[in-house]
Amino acid sequence: MRIYREADYGAMSRRAAGLIAAEVVRKPACVLGLATGGTPVGTYEELIAGCRRGDFSFREVHTVNLDEYKSLAPDHPQSYRYYMQTHLFDHIDIDPANTHIPDGLADDARAECARYDALTESIGFADLQLLGLGRNGHIGFNEPGDCFRKETHVVDLTQSTIDANARFFAHAGEVPRQALTMGMGCIMAARRVLLIASGEEKAEAIYQAVCGPVTPQCPASILQLHRDVVIVGDAAALEKLVKAGVPVCG
Ligand code: F6R
Repeated sequence: MRIYREADYGAMSRRAAGLIAAEVVRKPACVLGLATGGTPVGTYEELIAGCRRGDFSFREVHTVNLDEYKSLAPDHPQSYRYYMQTHLFDHIDIDPANTHIPDGLADDARAECARYDALTESIGFADLQLLGLGRNGHIGFNEPGDCFRKETHVVDLTQSTIDANARFFAHAGEVPRQALTMGMGCIMAARRVLLIASGEEKAEAIYQAVCGPVTPQCPASILQLHRDVVIVGDAAALEKLVKAGVPVCG
């Protein structure tokens, strides 16, 4: 596990974008696993700028997103499809047919989950999987629980996640209560995992993920079992790790 400590959100975003860009340059037809939420917005802005400069191209890249709210249409402003279009896909030269996100409107959500796992496997899993981190340690929408779920599945969002995501909606009552999320199988099958975190509200979750026991009570702790994990955090998010003496770059 390599941990980069950056001064602030902007530096974290530049470092993360640099690592993703390096993957795209190394392997132009790579598969990128992508995340949504507040944390990756700056990373996506950096990638858009690099693509516009002509530093690299997404023409041959495939993407698989981690999750989607159940029952939100793709054109709903809070759906993760809409987020990806507006924060990244509409501004880069990616082929829309190569971008994949679970269908939150599928009549048969379980069949949609099985389709998504098969699709992710058929494109060879992610070369690089970008992850944000929930304050409760979730990755994707794999919420704390009694076991790690391997397959893509429908999940009941915890109150902590609903509260955290309420900032994107008019009020907490509008936050969907369920989501479709990639399970740990596809996340752990990625060749490299890039976890990004910003702000002191992530410090405890990052600390537990890296230094705590591997337990489904902190879903991100499973990453301790992955052979190639890079964490990029700002100083506030990594403060507890640094205080504990965990070696970091920067
Ligand atoms: C989103 C996702 C979530 C978020 C996490 C952190 O696709 O998978 O795990 O990464 O909830 O969200 P932010 O970045 O908004 O703090």
